[in-house]
Amino acid sequence: MDLIIETNDLVKIYKNKNKDRTKNMTIALNKVNFKIKSGTIFSFLGPNGAGKTTTVRILSCLLKPTEGDARVFGKSVLEDPVGIRSRIGVLTENHGLYERMTVAENLRFFGSFYSIERQQVESRMNELLGYFNLADRKDDKVGTLSKGLKQRAALIKTLIHDPELVFLDEPTAGLDPKASAEFRDYIKALGKTYHKTIFMCTHNLFEAQKLSDMVAIIDKGVIKKIGPPEDLEKQLFEATLFKVIAAKAFPKGIADQLAVDDGLKIIPVSDTELAVYLSKPEETVMPSLVKKLVQLDIPVVQVAKVQHSLEDVYLKLMGGEA
Ligand SMILES: Nc1ncnc2c1ncn2[C@@H]1O[C@H](COP(=O)(O)OP(=O)(O)OP(=O)(O)O)[C@@H](O)[C@H]1O
Ligand SMILES: [Mg+2]
Repeated sequence: MDLIIETNDLVKIYKNKNKDRTKNMTIALNKVNFKIKSGTIFSFLGPNGAGKTTTVRILSCLLKPTEGDARVFGKSVLEDPVGIRSRIGVLTENHGLYERMTVAENLRFFGSFYSIERQQVESRMNELLGYFNLADRKDDKVGTLSKGLKQRAALIKTLIHDPELVFLDEPTAGLDPKASAEFRDYIKALGKTYHKTIFMCTHNLFEAQKLSDMVAIIDKGVIKKIGPPEDLEKQLFEATLFKVIAAKAFPKGIADQLAVDDGLKIIPVSDTELAVYLSKPEETVMPSLVKKLVQLDIPVVQVAKVQHSLEDVYLKLMGGEA
């Protein structure tokens, strides 16, 4: 397995000094372990204060863990921070561009931090400006760009040295729905077309579900679940659920009449709706259930599989509260 990130019992404790000089501490990460394969779009999902940004700061060698270690490209963040930093790009919560400089001036400036030829920075900048449809704003001051365009410029800054691994911390926060959707398309293309590995922190469940190959849900410094989005749904919602809706009220005792298989559990939801939980594969149970509905002459208008979303998973893990 071609691992690009591997953490080993990462712990981060912030020691805070209060005004009254009493010390308290925050355990931001409490033995965090995960592995990310090269080429993955990984979403780190969790509420405010969960420890997402702290994790990014450790993996991008800006912050040392209190305990444990992390390996990026097989190298320890404690031992080879310079080597790791040359191969990663980080889009932080604040874009970090200079508002009074033009887009191109910013990109040249940030490009000069890396050991790449000026000529190469120039050609890469132009290529990225073209790809992200920002070429016509190249000579405009960053302060004059809309938030969506600023975020695109910040993404170009993150990619100027052609990093293999890109960290995006809340990349669509504050963008309107259209700008967010456009930005997501760019992220997807980075992963799928340009084969970058992407580590994205987000609160946005829809975004995580839509984009990611892998999702980790973190809360209070502890990883609650990790896996491909569809597997998380299966892990948390073991039974498959179908709903059956009829045009008029089901007859009394319908649940017993439809109990054609021990792999079925039928629960009336309303007069006209049944919830059908399957503990066996649907193809072995549903045909006989449908046959029975027809035999009973029930005016069925809908038999539909209920797909659990990542939102259902998240809410279940967070104890019902978003
Ligand atoms: N520099 C710091 N000093 C003290 N405590 C900190 C510091 N940075 C973060 N924390 C605390 O550590 C915890 C984790 O914070 P972190 O910023 O990693 O969370 P997050 O998941 O990125 O949250 P958000 O979604 O709000 O960005 C929080 O309780 C936060 O208050
Ligand atoms: Mg954060």
